[in-house]
Amino acid sequence: MALAVLELFCGLGGWRYAAAGRGRVVAAWDVDEAARATYEANHGERPRARELATVPVEEIAGLGADTWVLSPPCQPFCRMGNRHGLADRRSRAFVRLMAVFDAAPPDHLVLENVEGFLGSDAHDLLRERLRRHGLGWREERLCPTRFGIPNRRPRAWIVASRRPLAARTPPAIEPEPLARFLDETEDRSLELDPALLGRHLPGLDLVAADDRRSACFIAGYGQRLVGSGSFLRTARGVRRFSPAEVARLLGLPGSFRFPPGLSLERRYRLLGNSLSIPVARWVLDELGG
Ligand SMILES: C[S@@+](CC[C@H](N)C(=O)[O-])C[C@H]1O[C@@H](n2cnc3c(N)ncnc32)[C@H](O)[C@@H]1O
Repeated sequence: MALAVLELFCGLGGWRYAAAGRGRVVAAWDVDEAARATYEANHGERPRARELATVPVEEIAGLGADTWVLSPPCQPFCRMGNRHGLADRRSRAFVRLMAVFDAAPPDHLVLENVEGFLGSDAHDLLRERLRRHGLGWREERLCPTRFGIPNRRPRAWIVASRRPLAARTPPAIEPEPLARFLDETEDRSLELDPALLGRHLPGLDLVAADDRRSACFIAGYGQRLVGSGSFLRTARGVRRFSPAEVARLLGLPGSFRFPPGLSLERRYRLLGNSLSIPVARWVLDELGG
């Protein structure tokens, strides 16, 4: 079954990597210029800049796609966010898309979000739409640590289809050591200043190359120390993981790159907003075919 995919909130195009071999992406959308430039640098096509909160039904319905993949903004559902759900202005695009879904429902939909999405009013709205238009669905909480990857990124995954879904048990593969995901040459500019390190040490999540775990790298990893991801102990001290290392932990391919001139903070932001490619691929496989 070759899917014709709409990639909504596309970011750097994580879903497009996951869907490779399963069909083609017909169109992608993102309001963020750095996201669009990164997507284009890697996938050769520029996403649409349209604000999805105002997308007309025809722009989506007229494309002849059968599958929606989406990772809507997660702040309204985050543990650290306000948990305002649909009342949060960042949910306006999701609400609009649910109206578009009503007018032109796809055959398949796959959604990824933080675990707080489950049980939210947005979750209720999505299930109501799926039910109304005759799509069955499965919901799972999955983390890349079950897929052999030493990085926590627990997320809610919802896969919906008009066809029967393949029922499968998620893998339980022991994570590999972090060493396999590290750069060959250490970038000394990533080392933490000893005075800064001293101030924040008690709150930092420190790991070593032979560890088989790391914390979730969030979008603010380039700006915050505590609660933003793990830091690596080295022979010289403690350093941030490089963007390339975070990209490897997400399962992005070795060919993945950023457009020239993108700041370190923007790189971490795009990676922190993205998704685990092996998990997304596994979830897409539930569509069968
Ligand atoms: C959670 S990230 C999804 C990242 C993506 N799955 C990836 O692999 O990189 C959400 C993305 O949606 C974009 N976005 C947020 N609100 C939007 C809106 N109203 N219309 C279009 N794009 C939006 C953000 O710029 C961000 O890149």
